[in-house]
Amino acid sequence: MLSSKIQDTLNNQLKCEFQSAYTYLSLAAYFEDLDLNGFAHWMKIQYHEELMHAEKIYTYINDRDGRVQLQALDSPKSEWDSPLVAFKFALESERALSAQIYEVVDVALGERDHATHTFMQWFVNEQVEEEAIFRDIVSDMERVIESRDGLFLMDRDLAGRQPQKGQEGPG
Ligand SMILES: [Fe+2]
Ligand SMILES: [Fe+2]
Repeated sequence: MLSSKIQDTLNNQLKCEFQSAYTYLSLAAYFEDLDLNGFAHWMKIQYHEELMHAEKIYTYINDRDGRVQLQALDSPKSEWDSPLVAFKFALESERALSAQIYEVVDVALGERDHATHTFMQWFVNEQVEEEAIFRDIVSDMERVIESRDGLFLMDRDLAGRQPQKGQEGPG
């Protein structure tokens, strides 16, 4: 059984993961509009990853006999000044999400809910990986920013991103 404080906190985190998915779909649409289809593909995979994070929390709340309560999402940002600015925005969003996840961990510790604490460690580790991936892409983009060819080559590179195992989607 979840305490009501933990249940509210997890439902809020569920919303944050959906909000993050929404942001990545908006970033995908931005890149589609620029005909940077590799960047768009990459963002759509990220969108699916965030949906998977949301589903993990959904399942966990149910496994603990809690009640999932879905909340309204905000309209995501939809325009950026450049592809680099868009990727930097994504990196900042991931950093904010990491801070948010740490808060969930703090609440779990405060409530002495060790199961939730252990469950959230997966997210803590995932954020380390995600921030690193975004930082690498931002620094690659900063290197090629002066050349349109560089961006084109990066687009081809990002087009090769594969979904994580077990989240290939319905087909
Ligand atoms: Fe996430
Ligand atoms: Fe993420």
